[in-house]
Amino acid sequence: MTSEDVKEYSLSEVATKNGKDGAPCWIVVRDKVYDVGSFMIEHPGGADLIEEVLGTDATKDFDDAGHSNDAITILKKTKIGILVETDRKYDKKKKKKPAEGGEKKKKKPAEDGEKKKKRSCKTRMTCGVC
Ligand code: HEM
Repeated sequence: MTSEDVKEYSLSEVATKNGKDGAPCWIVVRDKVYDVGSFMIEHPGGADLIEEVLGTDATKDFDDAGHSNDAITILKKTKIGILVETDRKYDKKKKKKPAEGGEKKKKKPAEDGEKKKKRSCKTRMTCGVC
């Protein structure tokens, strides 16, 4: 379980929910798991198109059909969970690689006792004449 209490499923578990022999009708789109059983019959592109991709990662099929935002909204309503982290392709909390040619520069923490000099509205400016 994640901190948001979203149920996690593995790709192999999703594969068993392929609509066959009364199995539920799940698909994966961008690492999220959707139970599209109730929507299939209403699908403007036909139930068979979704049927073909049940139990699989249908991200490419979904995207390739050039769906509208309305379609995405409908899809979101059928969300039941997310893939387990090891099966995720899109949602991994990837650590950014350091830029090529060296390590990313880190800001040095202030030395012991040395206070960071910050500009503020209280900072006095003197021009030296007045
Ligand atoms: C279960 C998730 C899906 C939802 C919620 C969904 C939703 C929709 C909606 C609302 C439309 C009407 C046009 C639009 O608003 O974009 C549509 C059309 C279409 N969808 Fe899907 N769709 C899903 C999955 C798929 C998949 C997996 C495929 C392909 C394998 C697909 C292929 C198509 C096609 C070809 C059309 C155009 C139909 C036409 O214009 O005659 N859809 N879909």
